Amino acid sequence: MRATSRSTIRRWVPCAVLVVPVVLIGGGLPRSGLSAGPAQEKDAELLKDARDAFEPLPKDMATREFPVSPERVSLGRKLFFDPRISVDGTVSCSRCHLSALYATDALPKSHGARDKVLPRNANTLFNTALQFKQHWRGDFENVETQAKHALTGPGFGNPDFAAAMARVNAIAGYPELFKKGFPGEADPVNADNWGRAVGAFERTLVTPSRFDEYLGGKTDALTLTERNGLRVFMDIGCVNCHGGVGIGGGKFRKFGVKEDYWKATGSKEIDKGRFDLTKDPADTYTFKVPGLRNVEMTPPYFHDGSVGTLPEAVRVMARVQLGKTLSDEETGAIVTFLKSLTGNPPADFMTPPVLPPAGFK
Ligand code: HEC
Ligand code: HEC
Repeated sequence: MRATSRSTIRRWVPCAVLVVPVVLIGGGLPRSGLSAGPAQEKDAELLKDARDAFEPLPKDMATREFPVSPERVSLGRKLFFDPRISVDGTVSCSRCHLSALYATDALPKSHGARDKVLPRNANTLFNTALQFKQHWRGDFENVETQAKHALTGPGFGNPDFAAAMARVNAIAGYPELFKKGFPGEADPVNADNWGRAVGAFERTLVTPSRFDEYLGGKTDALTLTERNGLRVFMDIGCVNCHGGVGIGGGKFRKFGVKEDYWKATGSKEIDKGRFDLTKDPADTYTFKVPGLRNVEMTPPYFHDGSVGTLPEAVRVMARVQLGKTLSDEETGAIVTFLKSLTGNPPADFMTPPVLPPAGFK
């Protein structure tokens, strides 16, 4: 299936010469009769282009189907930090999505229960519920199904959902909390509700940044250097894939449009991406375009964690996706812009809650 998206990425259309008078929109811009100078025109044009390509973050990522009631979020937050639901009692979601590392584990590839190495690099969970699919290959439709299937995946290592739910039921405090999170349900402790509770917590993890203030019209929320970087990011074509509210996260694309990706990344294993899921040759080496919010804080990069630094990741992207060799100046400008996408981690994510007591059996 080709990429479709709830938050459709709008393409940025380059506009060569600005002949029409600049239309000034938004709060931070001059509204008086004073004629705008060339610098102001450039600023207004940049903001307009940015608003065509990106969107500011919402307050949370709830939908009608997946609300974020306080009871559900509070339960989901406990489950997120609880290692006792895994097969050997050592693995919680927070083992690979650590508070101290912007919800990643900083490893090229994560280690699950019984030290099993997972096939790909752990993504951050911040703002992730906005993406059109979850996982590098788009294995899951939303954070709820992702969380449900994590129970029986190589991370938690449970043989089936029943075994996982037996672990939840063995902790005396949980059934009551499930009742509160899912009022009116006769048998609320089940794997779907586990996914919905953990998903509700994830749907609160938004990290607004100075870039969102900029999109809101406060042009000086970004420094001149950052705005120059934004211009380069758009002019060079990064925005064609990394657009929308997540600065990515809205479609699948081949990794290696211009040349094989592993030649640039030095990857030892070659991952065929979505092909392994769909068996459609057109999906060979395609992956979800990742969102770039907080990217400064989430190395190593790419689905296999093969690249350690952000400037190198940017150079690889320009080379293999666009066939361009960036100058140091261009690379630096893009990296400076990308750093303006870093937001503060949500407080509820930074401190683990106290969990209902029970020893691991
Ligand atoms: C053992 C390490 C590990 C554990 C435990 C773990 N994850 Fe992950 N997580 C990963 C890895 C690795 C990926 C990337 C998987 C892939 O694409 O192949 C990932 C991806 C994700 C994604 C997709 C993000 C995106 O941008 O596509 C979400 C959401 C997620 N994890 C949530 C969770 C939740 C919720 C839990 C607990 C129920 C959890 N994870 C437990 C390692 C882990
Ligand atoms: C044709 C679409 C496309 C274009 C153009 C593109 N990217 Fe990407 N980008 C991707 C895909 C797909 C991935 C995931 C690659 C993988 O499998 O690891 C990615 C990954 C990244 C990553 C790694 C993120 C992470 O969390 O590991 C960064 C950084 C990045 N891109 C920045 C850029 C920059 C900067 C540009 C412009 C120079 C750019 N991209 C152009 C599609 C694109």
